[in-house]
Amino acid sequence: MGRAAERVSVRSMRIGILGTGNVARALAHGWSAAGHDVLLGSRTPGERGHLGLPVAGLDETVAHADVLVNATPGNVSVELLRSVGASALAGTVLIDVGVGLSDDYTELSHPNSSLAEEIQAAFPRTPVVKTLCTMDSTAMVAPAGLDGPSTVFLSGDDAEAKRTAGALLADLGWPPSSLLDIGGITSARGQEHFALLFMGIANGLGSHTFNIKVVTAP
Ligand SMILES: NC(=O)c1ccc[n+]([C@@H]2O[C@H](COP(=O)([O-])OP(=O)(O)OC[C@H]3O[C@@H](n4cnc5c(N)ncnc54)[C@H](OP(=O)(O)O)[C@@H]3O)[C@@H](O)[C@H]2O)c1
Repeated sequence: MGRAAERVSVRSMRIGILGTGNVARALAHGWSAAGHDVLLGSRTPGERGHLGLPVAGLDETVAHADVLVNATPGNVSVELLRSVGASALAGTVLIDVGVGLSDDYTELSHPNSSLAEEIQAAFPRTPVVKTLCTMDSTAMVAPAGLDGPSTVFLSGDDAEAKRTAGALLADLGWPPSSLLDIGGITSARGQEHFALLFMGIANGLGSHTFNIKVVTAP
């Protein structure tokens, strides 16, 4: 696989995940099991005690994070991040898993662009890496549970941030050969726009638990 992202080992990290939904909870369990200190960020943390996971408000979660993850609906993520503020986010790697879709999943909220590009433009001192958004939350944290190896993409302008994201993917069970760096943050639009094909494949299969694999000529 060309330009496979390099695996690096990371120390136990403080990970803040914005959102408390399917993706946030799956990633929290996966990274906690790998030894990371994970905190979920909610608009209403007092109502999230039933999750059985550490949950705090958005500001506290951002302050906690060496690495921040956006797992909120893509059509509100930028507004949510603006409420936290650019200075609080400066210097923190942001892994963006969000996709902006209409309620019926048929329209993109960022056609001819991407959520990740919009976040990077709004927060230039926060290196953004787009990854994991081309599969459902089950596959994100259990790639070995699929019927063979598959591909996870990385997009972003900051090489060090991509190395950090690659190491955190390894902690979820992604082997180095599965990681494919597809370029700068502009390439995130390909990952996000795949959501439309994802829905079609899911309809065809009758399941959301699948992933794609990039295969090359021998
Ligand atoms: N589900 C998947 O398998 C999957 C796969 C690929 C990509 N994605 C993308 O990943 C992101 C998270 O997906 P998800 O399935 O975890 O979503 P979800 O279950 O709907 O959870 C989203 C979370 O975002 C928080 N949030 C903040 N502002 C919000 C607002 N205005 N409206 C609704 N929720 C808000 C909520 O937490 P609080 O209420 O606690 O604040 C909520 O729990 C989305 O952008 C989605 O497109 C999902």
